[in-house]
Amino acid sequence: MRHFLTLRDFSKDEILEIIALAKKIKKRAKAGKFKPYLKDKVLGMIFEKSSTRTRVSFEVGIHQLGGAGIFLSTDDIQLGRGEPLRDTARVLSRMVDMVMIRTFGQERLEEFAKYSTVPLISGLSDMYHPMQILADYLTVCEYGKDKNLIVSYVGDGNNISHSWLMLASKLGFELRISTPKGYEVNAQVLQDARKFAQISGAKITIYENPKEAIKGANVVTTDTWVSMGQEAEKEKRIKDFEGFMVDDETMKLAREGVIFLHCLPAYRGYEVSESVFEAHANEIFDEAENRLHAQKAVMVWLDKQR
Ligand code: CP
Ligand code: NVA
Repeated sequence: MRHFLTLRDFSKDEILEIIALAKKIKKRAKAGKFKPYLKDKVLGMIFEKSSTRTRVSFEVGIHQLGGAGIFLSTDDIQLGRGEPLRDTARVLSRMVDMVMIRTFGQERLEEFAKYSTVPLISGLSDMYHPMQILADYLTVCEYGKDKNLIVSYVGDGNNISHSWLMLASKLGFELRISTPKGYEVNAQVLQDARKFAQISGAKITIYENPKEAIKGANVVTTDTWVSMGQEAEKEKRIKDFEGFMVDDETMKLAREGVIFLHCLPAYRGYEVSESVFEAHANEIFDEAENRLHAQKAVMVWLDKQR
């Protein structure tokens, strides 16, 4: 049995296999065909943080696969009143076929997985958001940018940038990251990515200047400066991230035909300008839709491993 907690645990071949399955599932869905790969299976979805896309895409996804999803907010379940995570894991394992959790520390996912006898999927932690980055890569492929791929991530050294590090270092493409001082990516994640890059041939570079990082990129991406749980730091962060907004001037430095991705929600006037966002709305909302297709592929793939 496999879990889907970080792309660190997946090989290049496995990632590409899931992407290929997502393409197949999406193509069929567009033709109105929904194969009941997970007929009568139930997905438990625990949310310790807010969500629009993750909740809707998992709930719609499991339904389209012939199963059902149960939304479990920590405000409503006993976990929120102090029932241990390991007990929640053991109870859910007796009743559902797969679990998704959106939580804080990555160690909460690991603890749940240790006690779970059904596959566990990360719906985001403070450290990683692997489902998002799979959907992003599906979008990159659809726009034909996967050849000679150069991704530039400008912004906070957070769960999204860490997931890009894992994807690039496993698949072997060029990733440039530019973060303000004090908001660098996690040193251990960077070290691990550099280790994987020696095998895959990925080129991973950290830039101080966001403009330098964007020169010649064919995919530019960013994320909020204030992730869930960091609300108290908002004012300080906005000051510290000055000069890191992706705007028309910075986008001009990228390669002709560049696409811009954003996992959403987006905060215009902060990490991205209104004008860049609207000019690239097609890509961004394709990316959002691809959460659905990529997640269906992950659920089917995990079910096959059992
Ligand atoms: N991108 C993303 O995960 O969105 P939600 O927080 O709305 O789920
Ligand atoms: N980095 C953001 C991603 C939201 C989908 C957060 O963790 O809030």
